[in-house]
Amino acid sequence: MWPYPRILAHRGGGTLAPENTLAGVRRGMEAGFRAIEFDAMLARDGVPVVLHDPTLGRTVAGRGSVADIDALDLAARDAGSWFGPDYAGEPVPLFAEFAQYCKAHGVWMNIEIKPVPGHDVQTGTVVARLAAALFADEIRAGRVERVPLLSSFSEAALQAARDAAPAVPRAWLTSSIPPDWERRARALDAVAIHTDHKRLTAAAAAQVKAAGFGLFCYTVNAPARARELFGWGVDGLCTDRIDLIPPDFC
Ligand code: G3P
Ligand code: MG
Repeated sequence: MWPYPRILAHRGGGTLAPENTLAGVRRGMEAGFRAIEFDAMLARDGVPVVLHDPTLGRTVAGRGSVADIDALDLAARDAGSWFGPDYAGEPVPLFAEFAQYCKAHGVWMNIEIKPVPGHDVQTGTVVARLAAALFADEIRAGRVERVPLLSSFSEAALQAARDAAPAVPRAWLTSSIPPDWERRARALDAVAIHTDHKRLTAAAAAQVKAAGFGLFCYTVNAPARARELFGWGVDGLCTDRIDLIPPDFC
């Protein structure tokens, strides 16, 4: 039901390094992490990059939509200076290179498909196909615990991912668990529900588990809360505080 690590570094290295960068992954690895969550979206040319925001300005200097800039242009931009001078010049990763790096270093991935608004189907399709190609060997061998888990708030993106690469598992990301959650999750052939721990109740957690789904929470930064959630049957979580909730937390 949840063959994956229980503690993931959110956005690569949590808040101890610039989010969604290889420097973040390396920071997480230094802390012992071999499992991460990160965000992927398409650039103008349809090539996926690792970014959280659909617009420039917060982690990458500039203005405008990611969908108006080609991937190699984005990859030449600085995604580290906003965090601190030590990370100046840290690039926006290309998804394929980033995922390859993680695979080569044994870092398991929860890939959040984060489409620029209006690009849901294309983003789900492209990201799922690339993940399937990169992990074709593990899929063929049935090593499900090594294959990335795709997740998204966009049901359209997940549907497209399922159609494009059904062998790569999906999780439905939802900020709270609605009454019709099970029907929607089953429509996506989702293996897990990913949800905001702040809105999760013990009763809802029990329902999700009783229905046979994995249950994952974002973004948990207090050890006492992490313990409580695991007590409710939560299978995994991601954290920004990789210093407070280490990979061997439980
Ligand atoms: O995948 C869980 C979490 O990352 C969702 O929220 O905004 O941090 O991508 P966000
Ligand atoms: Mg995310």
